[in-house]
Amino acid sequence: MTENSNIKIVNEVKEMQALSNSLKKEGSLISFVPTMGALHEGHLSLMSTAKEKGDFLVVSIFVNPTQFGPNEDFNKYTRDLDGDIKKISDIGVDVVFFPEVDEIYPEGFETYIEVQQLQKPLCGEFRPGHFQGVATVVLKLFNIVKPDIAIFGEKDYQQLLIIKKMVRDLHLEIEIIGMPIIREGDGLALSSRNAYLSDEQRLQALALSNSLNNIKRMFNDGENNIGNLVEAGTSILNESSIKDIDYLEIRDGNTLEDQEEAKKGDIVAIAAKVGNARLIDNTKL
Ligand code: PAF
Repeated sequence: MTENSNIKIVNEVKEMQALSNSLKKEGSLISFVPTMGALHEGHLSLMSTAKEKGDFLVVSIFVNPTQFGPNEDFNKYTRDLDGDIKKISDIGVDVVFFPEVDEIYPEGFETYIEVQQLQKPLCGEFRPGHFQGVATVVLKLFNIVKPDIAIFGEKDYQQLLIIKKMVRDLHLEIEIIGMPIIREGDGLALSSRNAYLSDEQRLQALALSNSLNNIKRMFNDGENNIGNLVEAGTSILNESSIKDIDYLEIRDGNTLEDQEEAKKGDIVAIAAKVGNARLIDNTKL
């Protein structure tokens, strides 16, 4: 364990578990924000809420290899512990859990978690194995940090549903809280991957939120034909020269099932590549 400002950095599983056990014995409520680092205002807002809700705030920073595909950005993903610690120094984070990869996946590791239906559509189709990696690492982190409350962003909407389902299905005694997407003033959803965008690509990327807003406006004006809504959203992406669209879909906001017609509470979700950045965004109808 090392100290950096007032924040303790814990690298080892056993040490984190021992600390959490003693906090629990004292009756402290542990709140937890799991991250992969490259922190931005979106993460900070999760942490501020977590601070209010618990007595002791743990943040994990771990770029989890099992949720990246072979041609994805695992190696390129920004790693800057000192920068991240500076960004969170005013929030009141008590511990940053910052393990090495082999601490989390020791040699011979072979146990994985799958939330079988929810992991299939949307990002599941384009990132095989991604949600298995997410669910596995999140369950591991829960077993290490032993939180009472864990907070996730709604930007990763499918991830949030999967984690809630896993918690329910496996009887974990953890309250999962989802927090709204934080956006730049012009609508771009905050993401660690925005750092990959050039100025020109950043402007192009605005088409994602514009497309979602347009679909929502049409729905509010009475359009519920999914084909029409998706076509209108897609043409906004195309006008901005975004051609590499993984999906733009409208699905049930709880089950992610396909719909005959759009209805209130459905989720509109987009994933598209802008330059080298694969961006996702969503809104609820
Ligand atoms: O949302 C993320 O940053 C990651 O998927 C998570 C939940 C920290 C698991 O690695």
